[in-house]
Amino acid sequence: MCGIIGIASNKPVVSNIIQSLKKLEYRGYDSAGIATFANGFIDEKKCTGRVDNLEKILFKNPSSGSIGIGHVRWATHGIPSQINAHPHSSEEVSVVHNGIIENSNEIKKDLEKKGYKFKSQTDTEVITFLLTDFLKDFDLINTINKTLKKLNGSFALGILFKKFNNLVVGARRGSPLAVGYGPEENYLGSDSYALKSMTNKITYLDDGDICLLTNNKVDFYNSKNKKINKEILTLSSEKHTAEKGHYKDFMSKEINEQNVTAKTCIKEYVDQIRRDINLYNFPIKPKEIEKIVLIGCGTAFHSCAVAKYWFEEFTNAEIEIDIASEFRYRKVQFKKKNLYIFVSQSGETADTLAALDLCKKNKVKTCSIVNVVESSIARLSDFVLPIHAGPEIGVASTKAFIGQMLVLYILAIKISEVRKELSGPVYVKKINELKKLPELIKKTLLCQDKIQVIAKDFLQARGAMFMGRGLSFPIALEGALKLKELSYLHAEGYPAGEMKHGPLALIEEGLPVVILAPKDKYFEKTISNMQEVIARGGKVILISNDNNTVTSENVRFSLEVPKSDEQLTPFIMAIPLQLLAYHVASLKNCNIDKPRNLAKSVTVE
Ligand code: G6P
Repeated sequence: MCGIIGIASNKPVVSNIIQSLKKLEYRGYDSAGIATFANGFIDEKKCTGRVDNLEKILFKNPSSGSIGIGHVRWATHGIPSQINAHPHSSEEVSVVHNGIIENSNEIKKDLEKKGYKFKSQTDTEVITFLLTDFLKDFDLINTINKTLKKLNGSFALGILFKKFNNLVVGARRGSPLAVGYGPEENYLGSDSYALKSMTNKITYLDDGDICLLTNNKVDFYNSKNKKINKEILTLSSEKHTAEKGHYKDFMSKEINEQNVTAKTCIKEYVDQIRRDINLYNFPIKPKEIEKIVLIGCGTAFHSCAVAKYWFEEFTNAEIEIDIASEFRYRKVQFKKKNLYIFVSQSGETADTLAALDLCKKNKVKTCSIVNVVESSIARLSDFVLPIHAGPEIGVASTKAFIGQMLVLYILAIKISEVRKELSGPVYVKKINELKKLPELIKKTLLCQDKIQVIAKDFLQARGAMFMGRGLSFPIALEGALKLKELSYLHAEGYPAGEMKHGPLALIEEGLPVVILAPKDKYFEKTISNMQEVIARGGKVILISNDNNTVTSENVRFSLEVPKSDEQLTPFIMAIPLQLLAYHVASLKNCNIDKPRNLAKSVTVE
């Protein structure tokens, strides 16, 4: 999950590479680097930290050149340091890499025997030296293919060769890579988002493809050294701004625009006149589905966990949820009458993509719920349901979570209606309730001031717990994840009924415990669990849509959220938890949009 950019032009490229790297920072931001051709040599500059640091280095000591590659890193092999930052160059070759080379240690030993001296601890440097070595005896395409054959693992590469100083070269296996076509220049990018500001004409590389870019031509080759033709796609011209506007950071913008996210998504799927959900060409007849398997990672997995309750409530089909990194290695029984749904904001998460690939190989029906419609997951699945949330830049997912849940909810009620498990009038009622959601989200967002006060209470805490039952249990998991990601505070989410089986031992004087207790069938039980926490000194923050029913002077904070249809409470409950994580992190001066050690798009295993 690093970011790659390459530009082959007839004018200076440094400033465009820097601008693109800034866009790619969501993929990694522990170090950055650039390599260009200048005066017959490869000029490499790199640094630890953000692209801003690289910009400062270039300001003092400028690079020139009309051919260049750049990289933002999310460390896998070797600590974040200047030496481990990409590019990794020899006299002849410079390489930027996204992915992991699993057999780098063995290759390194062989290359060391040949006299190659390694500077870094990365797995990437072996690629640089393999290319340098093969180049002594082979032509360009043979050199690249011979190198790629030596590598195990997944990767996307951007390469400069001193001998071919008008070329930017790209190659992929397992990690995404795209080529963009501009006026008198061509681009290489680890995703189309980085290229979007420069062009909307894109070709996606497939596994084994190699591309050679000059300023006026792009050639593609396959792993058998044969020239191939590839399709040029025109990207959708969604004009969603990826600007912060008046917000301090992207995350606060993304949290605060969730009412709009919901409105847009509902507009895309719900036919306001017919009061029906538009779902054409679904890959499997809903009536024939025996089981639905929902798969994702991180926050996307939590949206699957919420959806399990909805599908179980509305349909008779069997429902299973799985974390993609587990699913892909389990001995799964694939069945033709199962529908496999993949949820991913980026559509590039390596584990989710691999799980989808496994389903494709087993010839079962797949559907993806993504934010990025040009993504690898969207392109590989049989059917795509976009969430229409616009670019999400903050690493910790917020508005995409709301979008993912919405599409899953919409799908659950539509499938159940087609299967006649939800009666016509109930279906219409559900749609009418859904239409109220954007306004309810807007009202919920008004709790900011109260949350700011609550957040102060977390500053002295050593950790926090979140608990809920039913639909509020996965929301408790998501609340804990948000707090961990953003404020680095240890946090755990639990089903409230599970507290007695261990977690209650963690409750001590002053530990903040967030209780999610909407007025649903679990309400009384959750409140009893809350009393057990209070009795042991826990500092309770109660979030409910019916706080009047609860009278306990020992509740430290009681936050009332708007009432909604019972099934829609996850949307409402998630918002105060996002805001809580945001404000705790903000008070602790954490980097909100780019939390330490994380990346937006996890394109390595
Ligand atoms: C990373 C992000 C999370 C996200 C997860 C899955 O870990 O930091 O916010 O939930 O990846 O990403 P996806 O793009 O597949 O939804």
